[in-house]
Amino acid sequence: MLREAKLEDAQAIQNLICFYSEDGKMLFRTLAEIEQNIADFLVYEKRDEIIGICSLKFGWDRLVEIRSLGVDPRYQRLGIATQMVQGSIERALLRDDCDTAFVLTYAIPLFTKFGFQIVDKMELPQKVWNDCQTCLHKECCDETAMSLSLLPLKKQVDPALKDWEEVLYSWDKGLRGI
Ligand SMILES: CC(C)(COP(=O)(O)OP(=O)(O)OC[C@H]1O[C@@H](n2cnc3c(N)ncnc32)[C@H](O)[C@@H]1OP(=O)(O)O)[C@@H](O)C(=O)NCCC(=O)NCCS
Repeated sequence: MLREAKLEDAQAIQNLICFYSEDGKMLFRTLAEIEQNIADFLVYEKRDEIIGICSLKFGWDRLVEIRSLGVDPRYQRLGIATQMVQGSIERALLRDDCDTAFVLTYAIPLFTKFGFQIVDKMELPQKVWNDCQTCLHKECCDETAMSLSLLPLKKQVDPALKDWEEVLYSWDKGLRGI
């Protein structure tokens, strides 16, 4: 089940982040940082266990970053990341302060199916790279930058819908074909 994260999920979220940050697939984040930003996270829960995580970072001008996307290796290729990316886009559509979603990723096909397109990393605002100082790869970044304009999708969302679950429902009814 995909849901918004709660404070008590913070340790499980950090466990997955630690697992993937050891080989540089994800940026390390402290427990305190995760707790402070818990509202940014979606989690995928199966039988009381957190097996998928994803977060949104707002504040890069009018960009929003999909980040810390990871699925427990035992449950990969089952569509869990697909659901989390879809849920993240839906959450971003509710906000007035972003027009474009972007991601730095190794999983290009996952984002392509939502309409993300590869962009030159240098087009991203310089401040995005501040976070990369803690990455194992730093200047040798081997991730691909991809972005998706949210504006055409925002036009399809009924402005009366302000609740995430409602948008999810509206997406199910008509927005899947992006
Ligand atoms: C990348 C990751 C999140 C995908 O999670 P997942 O739940 O297995 O993804 P899904 O099942 O939703 O995959 C949907 C599609 O995305 C693509 N995809 C998934 N994982 C991929 C990968 N590692 N590399 C390239 N494409 C991938 C495939 O097209 C896949 O469709 P298919 O299974 O029919 O071939 C997962 O492999 C992971 O946690 N990797 C380590 C952490 C990481 O790299 N995070 C950064 C991602 S931005």
